[in-house]
Amino acid sequence: MLNTYKAASDIEVLTSNCPIPGYGLVPINAFVIKGSEPVLVDTGTVVESEEFMDALRAVIDPPDLKWIWLTHTDFDHIGSLQKLLDESPQLRVITTFLGVGIMNLAAPLPLDRVHLVNPGGKITLGDRTLTAIKPPVFDNPSTTGFYDDKSGVFFSSDCFGALLSTVPQNAAELSEKDLSDGQVFWATVDSPWVHKADSVAFAKELDVIRRLDPEMILSSHLPAASRDLTERLLASLAMATTAQPFVGPDQAALQEMLKGMTASAD
Ligand SMILES: [Fe+2]
Ligand SMILES: [Fe+2]
Repeated sequence: MLNTYKAASDIEVLTSNCPIPGYGLVPINAFVIKGSEPVLVDTGTVVESEEFMDALRAVIDPPDLKWIWLTHTDFDHIGSLQKLLDESPQLRVITTFLGVGIMNLAAPLPLDRVHLVNPGGKITLGDRTLTAIKPPVFDNPSTTGFYDDKSGVFFSSDCFGALLSTVPQNAAELSEKDLSDGQVFWATVDSPWVHKADSVAFAKELDVIRRLDPEMILSSHLPAASRDLTERLLASLAMATTAQPFVGPDQAALQEMLKGMTASAD
């Protein structure tokens, strides 16, 4: 089920929760940036495409959208991409060469409707300039977040996500421990290479975000986090490099789970 809330005067969040049995909830967010050239940031999950379109219509008339910023091509980000492109011929997709290449394997993007921006590159859309940024952690080579100079918001894609037991609309409502533990765990699951990162090099990546000093961080997998949380979010990511690597349930655990499901169905 999708809900919407306002994170800033001109930014709407479209949010859903994905339960991971035994681990918690992963918030899944997309965003609408209103203004003279409205932008949809990601397009929800494949399995909830209908609900996503309903939630989108509640915050904007889809023909009013000018751009989709596709942070990356995972199934929790491309759910309504094709539908929106089919229904709204004015829409163009901001992505990378790799984003186009990966989409070619599933639902090719029309090249005349693609705008490529690499990390460090900029695009001006009406009264705002978006600067593409590769976030410190990511799970897909096409990942590109961005900084919006008008709102001061950093859209971080999967970076700064967290597994949570409850999902408020504001990350400040989470206890320090829940936020930190949830973030560290998510980073070990979603970016399992984080343990291999050189700690000095990784700290420099975190410093890039520290210097950016965004008003707010909007992650695809965390409630909205305003500036006073940035240091905590960065500290949790630094901890992830030495945290216990994630190992998923094995076949024996799956069989136990299936047994339990069969018993409860009887
Ligand atoms: Fe992802
Ligand atoms: Fe994601």
